[in-house]
Amino acid sequence: MKTLIVTGGAGFIGSNFLHLLRVSRPEWKLVNLDALTYAGNLENLVAFEGAANYRFVRGDIAVREDVERAFAAAVELGGTVSVVHFAAESHVDRSIQSGLPFVQTNVLGTQVLLDASRAHGIERFVHVSTDEVYGSLGDSGYFTEETPLAPNSPYSASKAASDLLVRAAIHTHGFPALVTRCSNNYGPYQFPEKLIPLMIAKAGDGEPLPVYGDGKNVRDWLYVVDHCEAILAVLERGKLGETYNIGGHNEYENIAIVRRVLSELGKPESLIRYVKDRPGHDRRYAIDASKIERELGWRPRFRFEQALPLTIEWYRTHAAWLQRVRNGAYREYLVRQYGG
Ligand code: NAD
Ligand code: DAU
Repeated sequence: MKTLIVTGGAGFIGSNFLHLLRVSRPEWKLVNLDALTYAGNLENLVAFEGAANYRFVRGDIAVREDVERAFAAAVELGGTVSVVHFAAESHVDRSIQSGLPFVQTNVLGTQVLLDASRAHGIERFVHVSTDEVYGSLGDSGYFTEETPLAPNSPYSASKAASDLLVRAAIHTHGFPALVTRCSNNYGPYQFPEKLIPLMIAKAGDGEPLPVYGDGKNVRDWLYVVDHCEAILAVLERGKLGETYNIGGHNEYENIAIVRRVLSELGKPESLIRYVKDRPGHDRRYAIDASKIERELGWRPRFRFEQALPLTIEWYRTHAAWLQRVRNGAYREYLVRQYGG
């Protein structure tokens, strides 16, 4: 029997991962350790309310006592414990405003979690990282697992630091960890500060859509369900100590994405506004995912042409979710349950 501590399970990818497990591994026990920062939203997880095999622990991964509470919940549920580590400060623009919370959670928090996980003798630890640790590509080429780390933003630098701490734990202590590095995700429950949900939200309200610089920066887009299935494959079948790139072979310029969102919503391109570029803006990301395809048999199931309309439909049918995030009402339960 498997018991999983999932950190950051109230965020975008973590909540999608929990939903995947609920359906595909219903016998597993799940502990969700999340600090509920602005990016954490328990309204992503209403399906888990009252579930006997699920515990929510509000806590900070950088605080050992909080991490210990998650382990205590896991021990109470029984079974061998593994950890899937999503919790992070994740937004590049916020890291440009202030890098410190990124160092606190992504670097310090990861080390606290590694120390506690090692002390508890866990079975496996999957560290969810990002392709941004590799830096920026020119017009051609792909990131492989051997590409040197060259992060450019405080966000990606903090993620690269956390990757190196995981590497050190593997090398020094024989710690049973694996690292994943994925490209840009999109799909349900993504916080509307990231490109695709922000454009859906603004276009829906007839607001101008801010496109940074010339709009020709390229990202490799992957539907979040595909990412979650890849993480599950790495957790179950990945080789300890290895790193796996995850990507969709699905590169688009930002402006193409924005135009597509507008066209799906039947909104005019006159809403597009070119604005000042993001400082240090990485030009292009593209992932070579052949290792995970070859070794673990994972492949993306969703094509962009299919999954972008699915995503837009999700935000349309979850207009109340989106509105409550945008107007701050999603924080009300914090005041009710935790007094703030
Ligand atoms: P997110 O910002 O939507 O969610 C982060 C979650 O972590 C939130 O629930 C938040 O409350 C929680 N959290 C933050 N600080 C915490 C702390 N100190 N202790 C406990 N919980 C804390 O992020 P996301 O987009 O779901 O990304 C999840 C992970 O995947 C991150 O590690 C990110 O680097 C990585 N990643 C994201 C993408 C992407 O496109 N979004 C792509 C590749 C990798
Ligand atoms: O590549 C994986 C990474 O993808 C993850 O590690 C990060 O957590 C995630 O936030 C994402 O980083 P990006 O910086 O690529 O994502 P973002 O959605 O912020 O921006 C995507 C592109 O769109 C980027 O080139 C900047 C541009 N952009 C973004 C916003 C928010 C705009 O042009 N306008 C905007 O308003």
